[in-house]
Amino acid sequence: MIKNLLNFNNVRSALSVGIDILQIPKDSYVLVPEIICDVAVKVFIRKKIKITFYKLDKYFQPVWRELENLKTLKNKKISAILMVHFFGYPQNIRNFRKFSKKNDIYLIEDNCHSLNIPINQTILGYNGHIGIDSPRKIIKDLYSGGRLFINTKSNIITKNIPRYIPTKIQKFKKNLKKKNPKLSEYIKFSKKRPNYESPYFFSDKDNDFSIKKTDLLSLQKIRKFNFKKEIDKRYKYLLKLSKFAKKNNLEIVFKKNKNILPMHFVAITRNNSHRKKILNWGWRNKIDIVTWPSFYKEKKLSQVLLRRWNKYICIPLNQNLSDIDEKRI
Ligand SMILES: Cc1ncc(COP(=O)(O)O)c(C=O)c1O
Repeated sequence: MIKNLLNFNNVRSALSVGIDILQIPKDSYVLVPEIICDVAVKVFIRKKIKITFYKLDKYFQPVWRELENLKTLKNKKISAILMVHFFGYPQNIRNFRKFSKKNDIYLIEDNCHSLNIPINQTILGYNGHIGIDSPRKIIKDLYSGGRLFINTKSNIITKNIPRYIPTKIQKFKKNLKKKNPKLSEYIKFSKKRPNYESPYFFSDKDNDFSIKKTDLLSLQKIRKFNFKKEIDKRYKYLLKLSKFAKKNNLEIVFKKNKNILPMHFVAITRNNSHRKKILNWGWRNKIDIVTWPSFYKEKKLSQVLLRRWNKYICIPLNQNLSDIDEKRI
């Protein structure tokens, strides 16, 4: 069982505090998957911790034989490994734990694409020395919410950390969504579609790293969140999206699972133009279809990785997808 759970404004805050609790030394290296959003990388870089990216296969699993071959890294001081449950589909937790134990390094469990749900005799987010998750990405209409699960001893005092205050724009958007959801949707999709084809499409938009506690309204919503109902709903969507994938020549990346709370459905398109067609179709039909992540700009992306990344599409499961199975693009 975890020793402590802290609620912050977002995950970068939770991760930042977690790194301080573990006392990860400056100039040591953290093993981070090669596909990860820029914000997560920046948290380490800002603390002068170095990053070594580890390879993933096409299904977002680590290439273990390369990771095991730490000989290539023997001159570097490695302090931790980040395990990411991509899109909310659990990684092989046992392998990561073994790896962390064998190499005597910290395991950081990034569960930002799901929540702390029970699965295979464990709870997602509770398996590392620290874990992080992101209610604000999963639960509708939260103003803030990023959590830190602590499995080691810590004397952290959060009394002096200020609480997050929702902005006027956030309040306005939430009100509009509630009172006039059609107009809110219209406004969203009447803009120019973000350039999802760029691996840096979201960079520099949100560079606030100030540490706050979750606002009280969001905290209440997190506590009341009906996991079971949401898991069932998302599973139904996954079934529909399997049919949609078949109709539209998409390869499904993750197996369906009745017990998880995924953030996205992920599929591989045939090529760049197939992907573009699907992204455009989604925007025209007011269905959110996106790419992930927006990479850290300073990371040199290999051609192999880029070629693979250029084919992925992600469909967020927090939208209404009730008739998606009937759609052909
Ligand atoms: C896997 C993962 N970890 C961490 C983060 C950082 O989350 P936040 O924006 O709440 O700081 C993200 C953001 O997209 C993410 O996808």
